[in-house]
Amino acid sequence: RGGLDTARDLAGRHVVVSAGGTREPIDPVRFIGNRSSGMQGYALARTALARGARVTLVAANVALPDPAGAEVVRTGSTREMRDAVLKAAADADAVVMAAAVADFRPADYEDVKIKKTPGAEPAPIRLVENPDILAELVREARDGDQVIVGFAAETHDVLENGRRKLARKGCDLLVVNQVGEHLAFGRPDNAAVILSADGEAVDVPRGSKETLADVVWDLVAARMI
Ligand code: CTP
Ligand code: CA
Repeated sequence: RGGLDTARDLAGRHVVVSAGGTREPIDPVRFIGNRSSGMQGYALARTALARGARVTLVAANVALPDPAGAEVVRTGSTREMRDAVLKAAADADAVVMAAAVADFRPADYEDVKIKKTPGAEPAPIRLVENPDILAELVREARDGDQVIVGFAAETHDVLENGRRKLARKGCDLLVVNQVGEHLAFGRPDNAAVILSADGEAVDVPRGSKETLADVVWDLVAARMI
């Protein structure tokens, strides 16, 4: 963007951003969830708005203020997020999956609170696989001109795992960051390497989530027709 804060290079574009972390209910009071705060997705939404885009923000379990001007769709589970993302993506120029999506959900939902029985072993929770939203987006966009971005949080072998994941997922860009107890989750800053399907790797040094978001949009804008 050449450092021009006034650049509205996403004007006339519709972008979809997912944010937060999906939760899979076990019973009315319990769920399986993850540590995503939604901050990176919200930063992506705010920076896209500043660059002139129409933004649909599909949020899951986030306690953050709505970015002014975004259409915010609130979801809970992975299947809810899937429906909202695919619907919004139908006319989108770009989709960025910044949400942490639960890979599995309990096979059975108990519609009353599970009780403990003194002395008895607890029943195991059987899991089944969730739909892969990013994979579905890639399938639907095949031969289209939609730019699709995934995020990967890795705890180890970050680059190696990232390259393999990009190839497997088939998206245009993969933002890879290292996570751990004290890295990324719930922090205002982030560091990442952005891998592209055409072999490029852009290193984004530790900085604000807005800074990382702007680099993502730079790379997305460059790939838009
Ligand atoms: N993702 C998705 N739907 C899922 C799982 C993941 O859309 N059911 C998206 C995430 O939003 C992210 C990208 O896929 O943008 C990569 O997620 P990640 O969990 O790193 O990849 P997985 O393929 O689930 O591999 P694993 O968890 O085994 O590392
Ligand atoms: Ca996963």
